[in-house]
Amino acid sequence: METKHWVVDNSGIIHQQYPQIKEAAALIQQGEVVAFPTETVYGLGAQVKRDSAVEKIFQAKGRPSDNPLIVHIADRTHVDELARLIPPYAQLLINAFWPGPLTIVVPKKEGAVSERVTAGLDTVAVRMPDHPAALALIKEAGVPVAAPSANRSGKPSPTTAEHVLDDLNGRIAGIVDAGETGVGLESTVVDCTGDYPVILRPGGITQADIEAVAGHADTNTALKKAEEAPKAPGMKYTHYAPEAPLYIMEGTSAAIQKKIDEWRAEGKKVGVLAAEESAASYKADTVIECGRRSDLASVARELYSALRLFNEQPVDMIISEAFPAEGVGAAIMNRLEKAAGHKWIKMR
Ligand code: TXA
Ligand code: MG
Repeated sequence: METKHWVVDNSGIIHQQYPQIKEAAALIQQGEVVAFPTETVYGLGAQVKRDSAVEKIFQAKGRPSDNPLIVHIADRTHVDELARLIPPYAQLLINAFWPGPLTIVVPKKEGAVSERVTAGLDTVAVRMPDHPAALALIKEAGVPVAAPSANRSGKPSPTTAEHVLDDLNGRIAGIVDAGETGVGLESTVVDCTGDYPVILRPGGITQADIEAVAGHADTNTALKKAEEAPKAPGMKYTHYAPEAPLYIMEGTSAAIQKKIDEWRAEGKKVGVLAAEESAASYKADTVIECGRRSDLASVARELYSALRLFNEQPVDMIISEAFPAEGVGAAIMNRLEKAAGHKWIKMR
């Protein structure tokens, strides 16, 4: 299949002047899958009600079918067509954070989406993205759009159209290309089926942000303990992983350098993932920077791109600096731990 590539610029979309968006939306209406930018990462969209369309997402990604998808809407009120019940605290979260990188999991309305979207669960995950191209595309399609991140399953999520094409060129009908995404990590997924919000996947909207609006919030305990089965089915799979084994190391640059030297003495080619502040201090085969430690939002933005860059380098092992798991750092460390398969090197 030839993948169409529509380059758009965000300022024009706001005025709905884009034949490209119309063409992409028409393909979604016909039951094809189309990649599009959001403020977090690129998504791979299909209309929510048609099984065969949703199936194409799983096919293109090579995604396990027990992992449900997020439904994207372009109007806050459309959540009522999908959800059977929205607790008052969830409505407060919607009012505060939509459009934006917050996904709510709520009891689903029977028949509102294909069973393939929810993987047989009786809940549905919904979000309204904060990106003019995404909103224009969903509006133009006239239906809610199910969309996981637009990467091959297991790879880092795409933050540029090039990442999407590296993974999915020829496997999808098209891509709307509006350049780099903003946040860089996927939305915060919040379970809104209980008495208070429970974070299933940390993201750009932090636990403190949610508590400020909803009063109380918790983080799913399975995210804290690697061995427990997480409630967001997707969290159990290895994700975001570069091809070479990745280890996280807490400690000084000197301690990390010592480990690098040990591996290199064994004849291994070693890559390092480091913040800009310390990158220059390492002597290794490849050093890739991922934002500034003093500005964790920049690390979030650059992390996936940096992880992908290692696949173009001849490295046998990768060692990453650790980041403080506070604020957006919780999301950074969640993704880094998954990319590393929870492999840490402890200081001796
Ligand atoms: O930022 C994002 O959320 C991006 C952009 C494209 O919107 N999308 C995204 O989708 O990250 P995906 O499919 O890669 O991740 C969806 C996550 C998975 O961990 C999945 O298990 C969880 O949301 N999820 C979806 N439906 C759920 C449900 N009903 N209950 C619990 N978790 C659910
Ligand atoms: Mg994903």
